[in-house]
Amino acid sequence: MKKKVVSLFLVAAMAATMMTGCGDKKEADAPAADAAADAGETTPDAAADAGETTPDAGTEAADAADAAADAAGDAELADKKVGVCIYQFSDNFMTLFRTELENYLVSQGFSADNITIVDGANDQATQTGQIDIFIADKVDVLIINPVNSSSAETITDKVVEAGIPLVYINREPDEAEQKRWADNDWNVTYVGCDARQSGTFQGEMIVDLGLEAVDFNGNGKVDYIMVEGDPENVDAQYRTEFSVKALTDAGWEVECLSDQVGNWQQDQAQQIVANALGQYGNDVEVVFCNNDAMALGALQAIQSAGRTVGTDIYLVGVDALSEALEDVLAGTMTGTVFNDHFSQSHSAADAAINYIKGAGNEHYIGCDYVKVTAENAQEILDMVK
Ligand code: GAL
Repeated sequence: MKKKVVSLFLVAAMAATMMTGCGDKKEADAPAADAAADAGETTPDAAADAGETTPDAGTEAADAADAAADAAGDAELADKKVGVCIYQFSDNFMTLFRTELENYLVSQGFSADNITIVDGANDQATQTGQIDIFIADKVDVLIINPVNSSSAETITDKVVEAGIPLVYINREPDEAEQKRWADNDWNVTYVGCDARQSGTFQGEMIVDLGLEAVDFNGNGKVDYIMVEGDPENVDAQYRTEFSVKALTDAGWEVECLSDQVGNWQQDQAQQIVANALGQYGNDVEVVFCNNDAMALGALQAIQSAGRTVGTDIYLVGVDALSEALEDVLAGTMTGTVFNDHFSQSHSAADAAINYIKGAGNEHYIGCDYVKVTAENAQEILDMVK
């Protein structure tokens, strides 16, 4: 149900992009892909409708066969057990992700009673114990958001040994680990977006403002502070690197005043930014946060310091949490990047279904981020709300 709403929105967004001719290619790609997926979904319905109004024995027989196949598919999934490990329930973005994942799994025919989602409480030992329990319980598929991506090798080994297909989400295991899946032809895949793109989008939103508008202190450079997520996490590493790279690629000089770890958390970011503003005062021109939760904390610190986003400082995040989107609309955040939890959770569930049905998957299933400024924040807000 939700997927259809989302897809319809994306089709509309694509149409708008095509009509106005604006928006870069990457933004247009995701809607196009979804539109294609949606076409696949809606076409059978259209055929069924046509069958009703223009009776045709062939169409009706085909419809009956389709319906029987659908029912069989649902029945096949209804008694399958899915184990889902989330690194930490209190993470805002992963909360959106897991809620959508569960809803979508149910919409595809799984029984809610057979979907178990557990909180790793940001502790790898806790999560490893949960994986052991899922293995002992003989789940049919595991979907894992690892606490530490570096533990992926150990996790993969035990899950593969148990003969259970595995879908990693959100925290990408490194290349060597992914190569093992391909080399051994294991039923293991990763679903996620390329964090380099989100970092680049953050930087581009600043570049689009023009150096003159950003260089408030007139020293010819962009003086920024960086608030990082969990440093073990490739999303944090890439966003940190590629946001600044977009500035230097534009030929801008940059000065990093402060780069600290806020662990994706609003309160930690608020403290970090308050301290940095206390130390560097009006020299801070841009605050880059690896996610929106931290950007919201940064905004509290910025406002407490009597600074005004858009007037004497700029602020960007990633995720497109609804609160951050409201801020982008109000001008209290410069921009964010939509981290598409609909597409990621649906792809993860689809990959799980493919494994259960013996269809297999590619070992990497990607998706696109979307740049969000005041221009398109309302559209994204309508979608995520
Ligand atoms: C990122 C997201 C962050 C946080 C992190 C957890 O993709 O932007 O807000 O949820 O995943 O790994």
